[in-house]
Amino acid sequence: MQCSWKAVILLGLASIAIQYTAIRTFTSEPFQICPVPSSMNCSLSQEVEPFDRFCDDFPSYFSYNGSRVKTHILILATTRSGSSFAGQLFNQHSDVFYLFEPLYHVQNALLPHLTHSRYTADRRVMLGASRDLLRSLYHCDLYFLESYIKPLPANHTTDKLFRRGASRALCLPPVCDAFNVNEANIDEGECVRKCTLLNLTLAAESCRERRHVAIKTVRIPEIGDLRALVEDPRLNLKVVQLVRDPRGILASRIETFRDTYRLWRIWRATGRKPYNLDLSQITTVCDDVLRSISTGSEHPAWLRGRYMLVRYEDLARQPLQKTREIYDFLGLPMEKGVEEWIRNNTRGSNEGLAKHKYGTLRDSAANAESWRLKLSHDIVDYTQTVCQQVLEELGYRAANSPEELKNLSLSLIEDKTFAPFL
Ligand SMILES: *[C@@H]1O[C@H](CO)[C@@H](O)[C@H](O)[C@H]1NC(C)=O
Ligand SMILES: *[C@@H]1O[C@H](CO)[C@@H](O)[C@H](O)[C@H]1NC(C)=O
Ligand SMILES: *[C@@H]1O[C@H](CO)[C@@H](O)[C@H](O)[C@H]1NC(C)=O
Ligand SMILES: *[C@@H]1O[C@H](CO)[C@@H](O)[C@H](O)[C@H]1NC(C)=O
Ligand SMILES: *[C@@H]1O[C@H](CO)[C@@H](O)[C@H](O)[C@H]1NC(C)=O
Ligand SMILES: *[C@@H]1O[C@H](CO)[C@@H](O)[C@H](O)[C@H]1NC(C)=O
Repeated sequence: MQCSWKAVILLGLASIAIQYTAIRTFTSEPFQICPVPSSMNCSLSQEVEPFDRFCDDFPSYFSYNGSRVKTHILILATTRSGSSFAGQLFNQHSDVFYLFEPLYHVQNALLPHLTHSRYTADRRVMLGASRDLLRSLYHCDLYFLESYIKPLPANHTTDKLFRRGASRALCLPPVCDAFNVNEANIDEGECVRKCTLLNLTLAAESCRERRHVAIKTVRIPEIGDLRALVEDPRLNLKVVQLVRDPRGILASRIETFRDTYRLWRIWRATGRKPYNLDLSQITTVCDDVLRSISTGSEHPAWLRGRYMLVRYEDLARQPLQKTREIYDFLGLPMEKGVEEWIRNNTRGSNEGLAKHKYGTLRDSAANAESWRLKLSHDIVDYTQTVCQQVLEELGYRAANSPEELKNLSLSLIEDKTFAPFL
């Protein structure tokens, strides 16, 4: 086989990466020597067996088979943008180790008592720590997470991992024996009850057994903040950014976070905007998304093949097709179980809807535009003004009158394709 210059560079980087891992590992635990494949020989697939067997503690670079580099996934989203649903599209895959919002622990440790507006201003403080944690998690180093969990885990076990039950891998063997690997639907609460203490050593084992790590987060402001990770060749990270109509996000937050969004409800009920309304609750969303879109549309070299923008509304309207597109972009084979889960949990099957009460169902296709009935025209009008550019870029039309707003036979979502930058 011919060695391309890319492969040679890749192998060069691999040996640097291995040395770096060696240095890091040396300080904490006995280090196993990893045979580095010769950069003059590209037929890795034949040489991979010994390489693999010795390099279990260096799992992220070459895949088990050696034929492909392991791909990792980050779902970059905003609170109430449908990210739980998007996360499930990976959580349901048997070769994916999925974590639901691990950065919660970073925020909880570093900025525990922040109000929403202070959080908006200060969240950049967490970025360094967040990136370090993400990097460790993609390498299946779950012990790294311990320093952020309160109370500090003893003997590498904890019952305080945020939304542990939302991660299938953490409810199944080897981590927990209460459920069978073929169990299609594991209830989050039931997992927490039956699996009790989480053994992080076993969780790391489960992570290493799977080919991909997928992490969902709403705690990274924009794609530019992830550059250091995206550029790290050891991670082979691909980012799926999930966006949603900011008016839909706002309506959903007003219903979900009743205390934090109290003033918006007063505005909606009285028709008068409270003078102390925290406008950043919506402008931050639009500013962040706009920055990401701008970065994406500039096509910087570091994002090539690594960034895909997905509108939540498209995912809700055509879940199977969109999911296939996402899997194609990631270069992951789609699994029957994932398709089945989608059929069971979207409008494709009413029977399924009744049976599987997933939180992820909260906003199915039928109500992707239901925010129009939940917000007053003033609030919508205001949001359209401060978020005008984002709405335009993402193909969400403005409602120009109260009549237009409430007339659901007139969709405000334009057909728009966001081709990944390949
Ligand atoms: C490359 O690997 C193949 C298969 O393992 C082996 O037969 C060959 O001798 C190797 N070539 C070099 C230059 O190492
Ligand atoms: C290796 O790859 C082959 C085909 O590419 C596949 O059939 C096999 O299951 C893979 N083995 C592992 C351990 O992933
Ligand atoms: C941790 O393990 C040690 C040895 O098994 C045990 O003595 C200790 O009580 C454990 N600590 C906690 C907090 O469970
Ligand atoms: C966690 O699992 C590891 C690996 O099986 C085991 O050695 C360890 O004793 C377990 N920890 C506890 C506290 O049970
Ligand atoms: C889908 O629903 C059927 C029928 O309720 C059930 O048997 C199956 O296990 C479900 N599969 C998934 C992946 O949710
Ligand atoms: C709602 O919009 C549709 C499509 O533009 C239009 O045909 C219909 O007359 C509108 N209905 C009302 C009550 O304005």
